Amino acid sequence: MRADDPIGVFDSGLGGLTVARAIRAALPEERLVYLGDTARVPYGTRSAHTVLRYARSCARHLQRHGVKLLVVACNTVSAVALPMLSVELDVPVLGVIGPGARAGVAATRRHRIGVIATAGTVASGAYPRAVAAVSSRTEVFQRAAPLLVPLVEEGWVEGEVPRLVVDRYLEPLIAEGVDALVLGCTHYPLLADVIRERLAASAPEPVAVVDSAEATARELTELLAQRALARTGEGTLRLMVTDLPARFAEQAARFLGEPVEGLDVESIDL
Ligand code: DGL
Repeated sequence: MRADDPIGVFDSGLGGLTVARAIRAALPEERLVYLGDTARVPYGTRSAHTVLRYARSCARHLQRHGVKLLVVACNTVSAVALPMLSVELDVPVLGVIGPGARAGVAATRRHRIGVIATAGTVASGAYPRAVAAVSSRTEVFQRAAPLLVPLVEEGWVEGEVPRLVVDRYLEPLIAEGVDALVLGCTHYPLLADVIRERLAASAPEPVAVVDSAEATARELTELLAQRALARTGEGTLRLMVTDLPARFAEQAARFLGEPVEGLDVESIDL
């Protein structure tokens, strides 16, 4: 592993670009190789067994690109496959659940954290476990929010429809008195404005919104510094997908927060 080697980032599809975006903002000099498994998305509705299998093939592909470190951008993969990937790969592996949980604990004052995520992430219990590892007195209230992923992919991130859906998902968490809400899915940062607005309208006390993508970028920055793996020079981004590269290219800018013209989206087989 050398500092000049790229960082591998993978996700079930497009959503992990929100993590790539946070990494590029925090570490603009790094070379990122991003893999979106668009042929098999979504992962969030699948069994842990299937997600493990998919995750292994994505990780092995990125390892063949000589990455110095692997970031598992997908919450669902981080929830079920991180221990396996950490054992099987010979590079450090960073998931998004630990950083999101730690940022949630730092943000809560009443020790009550809400988490919205895919059904797979919620079923795994990974967020409550990660919170319990750093704070035994913090309670976690989870809610699967499956409709938010297709809404974001359709670009419905403002207006009446996302407001109604967000209200429905947040209602039970607000009733539990959470004062921090972890966005436990790659897609949700694109709904952060609606989520903040609905929390402000409905929660009796302020609720801090915690973006696990940003928390991950912060922990990645520390990890690279500790291991003397931070790179200097011009940063780059290479994009690979397993299906529909043209559609990915069309949608990528919204998730990445920067134009993708001139960036080639490569099609690969796993
Ligand atoms: N990337 C997934 C996650 O963060 C959301 C999309 C999917 O279900 O594959 O959990």
